[in-house]
Amino acid sequence: MAVVFFLLAVMAAMGQEPHRCAACHIETVTDFQTHRHAKAGLDCGICHGASEKHRTSVGAVPPDQVAAPAEVSKLCGNCHLAEKQQYEASAHGRVYTNGKKVKTANCNTCHGHHAMRPWAAQVENCQRCHTTLPASCKATPAAVNSRVACMSCHARHTLAVSSR
Ligand code: HEC
Ligand code: HEC
Ligand code: HEC
Ligand code: HEC
Ligand code: HEC
Ligand code: HEC
Repeated sequence: MAVVFFLLAVMAAMGQEPHRCAACHIETVTDFQTHRHAKAGLDCGICHGASEKHRTSVGAVPPDQVAAPAEVSKLCGNCHLAEKQQYEASAHGRVYTNGKKVKTANCNTCHGHHAMRPWAAQVENCQRCHTTLPASCKATPAAVNSRVACMSCHARHTLAVSSR
């Protein structure tokens, strides 16, 4: 709590209005400031709605909108249509419709909810679920310009292996 009041005091001292969700979600608000979404002028409301009753009821009323894991690609697809279509046709996206009861990756599993998951942490993230990989994955990757090693061979959203 002390940290919250300290941060609010700092923001006030800098002449900034405290963010309307900060009183209870300071960590999320701070994380979100680092995302390109915040820099592009987007805010919590694009994914959670105005959530005015939630705010004033101190969380007793749920936020207007909270996407379940299976709904995340639809939410993001409002602005990232190509990625949504590629993802939903991929092995990851199909898990939500083929009835298999396994944990799959959605947009936020890879990209993070509020702060972007750093590219450098992606391979480790993939290996949480893909503990054993075929030998082909250890071959020398094709010279593709990619920020994530696995994506030197697998297309980032379709996962298709590129022909070399
Ligand atoms: C006065 C306190 C308070 C304010 C202000 C507040 N929240 Fe919350 N919020 C809560 C509480 C309490 C919970 C439930 C406990 C938790 O998950 O941390 C919660 C949970 C949430 C959740 C998770 C809900 C779920 O089903 O998992 C979201 C999303 C959320 N808040 C969004 C917002 C947004 C967006 C704002 C600003 C418009 C906001 N909150 C402002 C208190 C608040
Ligand atoms: C681009 C979409 C997006 C934006 C913008 C966004 N959120 Fe979220 N948020 C989500 C998703 C998706 C979840 C995960 C819901 C679930 O558990 O399935 C989530 C979860 C949460 C939770 C639950 C705890 C957690 O971290 O998982 C809180 C609290 C929350 N958001 C608050 C906020 C606040 C406050 C803002 C603005 C500073 C914000 N969100 C902006 C998409 C967004
Ligand atoms: C209201 C429109 C909108 C929604 C909804 C939205 N985004 Fe974005 N997204 C943007 C904009 C605008 C940018 C910034 C584009 C730029 O700066 O070139 C962006 C950028 C990104 C980036 C690129 C970040 C980078 O550093 O290159 C990722 C990843 C991303 N969004 C993921 C998501 C995910 C995941 C969701 C769903 C949880 C989502 N977006 C929902 C509009 C949106
Ligand atoms: C399996 C992990 C994974 C999933 C799931 C995923 N992405 Fe990505 N995404 C990546 C990686 C890795 C990159 C960067 C690729 C690179 O630079 O090599 C990326 C790049 C992006 C970018 C930046 C622009 C670009 O195309 O390079 C956006 C925007 C984006 N993803 C949105 C989404 C959305 C929206 C979803 C869900 C519909 C999604 N992603 C699902 C891993 C994923
Ligand atoms: C939360 C778990 C999870 C994470 C994290 C995850 N995956 Fe997956 N992945 C799955 C599941 C589940 C399947 C589908 C398996 C099936 O259909 O039997 C899959 C399938 C795949 C496939 C097979 C594609 C095909 O067409 O057969 C590839 C390639 C893949 N993932 C790559 C990645 C990469 C690269 C990352 C990290 C950027 C990643 N995955 C992160 C769960 C995950
Ligand atoms: C040098 C290229 C290359 C790299 C790098 C690579 N893969 Fe693969 N991957 C392949 C090829 C080719 C296949 C399909 C042939 C096969 O199954 O042997 C494949 C298949 C897969 C499959 C499907 C396995 C199955 O049993 O159906 C998964 C999951 C996968 N890769 C995940 C990953 C992950 C996670 C990474 C990063 C840690 C990665 N790959 C890096 C080339 C690569």
